[in-house]
Amino acid sequence: MSETLSNPLDDPAADPFEIAAEAADDITRLTGMPRHDIALTLGSGWGQAAELIGETVATIPATEVTGFSKPALEGHVGTLRSVVTPRGKHVLIIGARTHFYEGHGPRRVVHSVRTAAATGARTMVLTNGAGGIKHTWKPGTPVLISDHINLTGSTPLEGATFVDLTDLYSVRLRDLARMIDPSLDEGVYCQFTGPQYETPAEVQMAKAIGGHIVGMSTALEAIAARQAGMEILGFSLITNMAAGIQTTPLSHQEVMEAGQAAGPVISSLLARVIGAM
Ligand code: HPA
Repeated sequence: MSETLSNPLDDPAADPFEIAAEAADDITRLTGMPRHDIALTLGSGWGQAAELIGETVATIPATEVTGFSKPALEGHVGTLRSVVTPRGKHVLIIGARTHFYEGHGPRRVVHSVRTAAATGARTMVLTNGAGGIKHTWKPGTPVLISDHINLTGSTPLEGATFVDLTDLYSVRLRDLARMIDPSLDEGVYCQFTGPQYETPAEVQMAKAIGGHIVGMSTALEAIAARQAGMEILGFSLITNMAAGIQTTPLSHQEVMEAGQAAGPVISSLLARVIGAM
């Protein structure tokens, strides 16, 4: 379904899980693939992985799928791609992320995750570009997410929905990733609302409360994935040292360039990890 005037998720009376089920039906119809095993959200820097994971069965514009938002950045068409790995696993690659800072609320932010779960995916791989707090992480370093701190003040859970988040980021899948690359370090991801980058004082706060990575995505998506019963793997590409850790100002340009430079290495790492699933 094309997005017309409004998004069905914006109707407070609508059931977001029913809309996700409709979206999953759209994906089945448009890709010809009745179910997927693994879902992968591609963040800044990780885009080239889509080519390396396996054979593309179908690529569809996200705007054709119920509830998906128009891309935030003009000229950037969000796509969903169905790929089959050499081991025969079907991967739904989500190249259309809705960020919390777009202001459409958490339902829209996690719709892709709920849709992926409705297509049958039991594994959710979340990737992002982020700022690093550890001095040893140079721009271009991929790190595993070991846990998160949700600083958005928001949640995708509605009502008295009590979801356990112990071991949210699967130990089993982190071990699998380290079998592919034993040098992978890990850290706690802090989701800020954005879109402004953090102040140096906010980065110091994140560090003081146990954070190692700062970014603007992923935590809300991981919560929704856990609610859906999925096993979660999270990867951050450190595109820059967080504000105040690096002495020069942060820029979106710098973040994009670091992503581009690291692209081939991290994409092949991600493809190998997914190939091993
Ligand atoms: N902070 C938040 N989000 C980011 C950063 C950062 O330093 N770098 C890339 N995304």
